[in-house]
Amino acid sequence: MKTRATTPGDSKNLHESETALRAVEPQSFTQLRRTSIALESSAERTDVQNLSQLLADTITLRDLYKKHHWQVSGPTFAMLHVLFDKHAAEQTVLVDLLAERIQILGGVAIAMGADVAEATIIPRPPIGCETTAAQIRRLLHAHEVILLEARAMARAATAAGDDGTADVIVSNVIRTGEFQVWFIAQHAEPAAVDPASSVRERDHAAN
Ligand SMILES: [Fe+2]
Repeated sequence: MKTRATTPGDSKNLHESETALRAVEPQSFTQLRRTSIALESSAERTDVQNLSQLLADTITLRDLYKKHHWQVSGPTFAMLHVLFDKHAAEQTVLVDLLAERIQILGGVAIAMGADVAEATIIPRPPIGCETTAAQIRRLLHAHEVILLEARAMARAATAAGDDGTADVIVSNVIRTGEFQVWFIAQHAEPAAVDPASSVRERDHAAN
């Protein structure tokens, strides 16, 4: 789906030719730089790999919020238009934190849309417009994918002695994600009540 409004002759106006852009990479995506942050290189390698996945999925969630911010419709348009944009902005903050954590650990932060699309494990949405209910379900699923992997990654970082990475994941990614889910879930079908809660009520009534 590419639309070129230019004609082949227009390229004579380009100062930089495409052939001059051949990649020169002092550090490839899979290589790590030496750091001076007193961490085992094996911990850095594991956490860079985990953070790269988390970054790709967080960029995708941020873009999902922007897509829905633009495409939402219906009686709740105004409210969700604002809420989706607020959450997109908060996810953008997380994107920056994760990318810079990867650089701190000596890695290369994934950045471009095509690379993110290859890496993310969040299901690709249709290019067209979805219903509000489908948008909400898609956002909740994406949040759960990230929360599930983030908790496992935080445990791995702690076990490897990388408290800084664990802190970024727990204090920022998990806390922000759980908070956003709370807001988004209010626009979904009412959640089923936890059956265990009635047991606690019965216990309470017996006392
Ligand atoms: Fe906007």
